[in-house]
Amino acid sequence: MKFLLIIYILLGLNCSSSNALVRPRSGTASKSRTIPPTAVTGDVTANFESECSLDRPQLSAVNVIVFYTASSSGFTFLPPSPDITLFQLHSLLPNGTVFDVFIPAEEAVITTVGEGSSGDFKGTNASWTGSYDLQHYKIEVNSPANGVVGTFNLRSLAPGHYPCGPVRSGESMMVAPEIGWANAVPDGDADVDFTLAGVKVAFKGVGYHDKNWSDQVFTNNVASWYWGHGRLGHYSIVWFDTLGTDGKEYVSSFVSKHDKIIVSSCDAGSIKVRPSGSSPYPPKISTPNPSGFMIEIDLGEEGVMNVEVTAEAISTAADGLYTEWVGTMTGSVNGGEKMTGVASFEMFKLTN
Ligand SMILES: *[C@@H]1O[C@H](CO)[C@@H](O)[C@H](O)[C@H]1NC(C)=O
Ligand SMILES: *[C@@H]1O[C@H](CO)[C@@H](O)[C@H](O)[C@H]1NC(C)=O
Ligand SMILES: *[C@@H]1O[C@H](CO)[C@@H](O)[C@H](O)[C@H]1NC(C)=O
Repeated sequence: MKFLLIIYILLGLNCSSSNALVRPRSGTASKSRTIPPTAVTGDVTANFESECSLDRPQLSAVNVIVFYTASSSGFTFLPPSPDITLFQLHSLLPNGTVFDVFIPAEEAVITTVGEGSSGDFKGTNASWTGSYDLQHYKIEVNSPANGVVGTFNLRSLAPGHYPCGPVRSGESMMVAPEIGWANAVPDGDADVDFTLAGVKVAFKGVGYHDKNWSDQVFTNNVASWYWGHGRLGHYSIVWFDTLGTDGKEYVSSFVSKHDKIIVSSCDAGSIKVRPSGSSPYPPKISTPNPSGFMIEIDLGEEGVMNVEVTAEAISTAADGLYTEWVGTMTGSVNGGEKMTGVASFEMFKLTN
């Protein structure tokens, strides 16, 4: 499952840019911003360089919030609505039926403390609380009227990061042209306890939290993209391999072990993600989905990690343009001991 936020607001936080590699201490002053439910007109300014709080909102107006929570969960394109402050929960129920709910909020109050954030979506009875050091997130929902009651607890096992490096000031937050991305929890232990449409959905599993933002239309900049995350042995892995509409490839790799970053890079060649089998690269709208992906990651001094990702089930799909899967991984470093694990991953193919 994953817990994904797409929040759009710019907070002019002041902070010192030194000691950025140190985890923030508690007692850091908090800042709040209230976001009205309707889209603003006029210019929206996106922030693409990190300043001081990884999980603070990053645009001057909110467009959407998405909470994904389930072992197989995914991103769906949003239904048309004048409301921009929305809570979404998308889950596969044990009987295989998809449960998908959108609850409009009267307004959203986002508070940042240290690197973390908390959010109260007024009128939805849904909120999240994040710790200042990105170590814990808790989502609480109490909306029997919408068939959603429960909690989601996430304890981080991997340091938060940006597309090209660790959490510190001055880092680029652009993962692809005009698309900002911050990965607060690349891997974590999740404890999920929900009742959805009267069905108990409770388990412990792998959790994740990121968010992305843009001041431009997604499809204007992205021709295709592969993203995913998973746990392979003791390694936590996050990958991005995007082909821009400009014909260039944009990548971001992240591998950590025992809560220490081994690599976090957006250098060309730091990672390569390609579809498995006979599925072509670059993918087109008309080409078939792959059965999985082959990933090669440069770990620097540790060598090269090779990962084979196999799709087990589709958690979300939209018109051949977007697919999200849950699956398994096998892999090794420098051809050594074979490791196994689980993954959640997606593909956009938006051009022909
Ligand atoms: C699965 O469970 C949900 C919730 O009880 C129910 O609405 C749905 O009809 C069920 N689907 C099937 C295929 O039984
Ligand atoms: C939120 O909780 C209140 C109090 O229990 C309830 O009256 C209201 O209907 C709930 N709102 C939603 C959206 O479920
Ligand atoms: C944001 O990123 C998540 C994965 O990190 C992905 O599921 C989603 O499609 C992205 N959306 C946009 C508009 O970039």
